[in-house]
Amino acid sequence: MTSIAVIVGSTREGSFNRALGELAAGRLESRGANVTRVDLAAFDLPLYSAALEANAFPPDALKLKALFAAQDGLLFVSPEYNGSLSPLLKNAIDWASRPTGDESLVALTAYRGKPAAIMSASISPFGGLRGLMHLRQILSTIQMLVIPEQVVVPNAHAAFAEDGSLKEALPASLVEMTAGRLIAVAKALTA
Ligand SMILES: Cc1cc2nc3c(=O)[nH]c(=O)nc-3n(C[C@H](O)[C@H](O)[C@H](O)COP(=O)(O)O)c2cc1C
Repeated sequence: MTSIAVIVGSTREGSFNRALGELAAGRLESRGANVTRVDLAAFDLPLYSAALEANAFPPDALKLKALFAAQDGLLFVSPEYNGSLSPLLKNAIDWASRPTGDESLVALTAYRGKPAAIMSASISPFGGLRGLMHLRQILSTIQMLVIPEQVVVPNAHAAFAEDGSLKEALPASLVEMTAGRLIAVAKALTA
């Protein structure tokens, strides 16, 4: 079974990105994926610093890295903060990119060669598009294969129906397309 982790870059109560992540997780599951929902609030991740790392690698950073490493693919759902991804998500990505044990500096065992998909929900009419451009570049830098499909949900405060679905057909169809491609690529790469 294809394993996908859904990582949401907001821990805010009522987060629109969590709502989008939950919707996407459901669509991945309906296609047969084994989905792990990653709530970053459940991980005690200090702000990355090389000094901290040299002193003691935080146990929860190791835990997060192992969780990522065990997946066939990763789906990142991030708010846009000042035109970029959230610092919460960037910090998590950075910790899990670090070598541990005997790994080389560029081992990137949590990420290398795996498919990634990206999504964003924003209260703005642009739907977090600028943040996704940064996120795509970062994930490519850590040698993930970022699929071309992506999802932006503009006017997120008015975008979701009571049942968690998206009211507009276009972003809803993008979620379907993105979920489908992520699983297809993950399957092809693990075949
Ligand atoms: C520091 C900060 C910067 C923000 N910058 C942007 C931005 O550049 N573009 C945007 O669309 N929304 C921006 N927002 C608004 C967020 O998109 C909005 O708060 C969104 O609801 C956050 O996602 P969440 O609902 O998943 O927590 C910003 C919010 C904060 C706190």
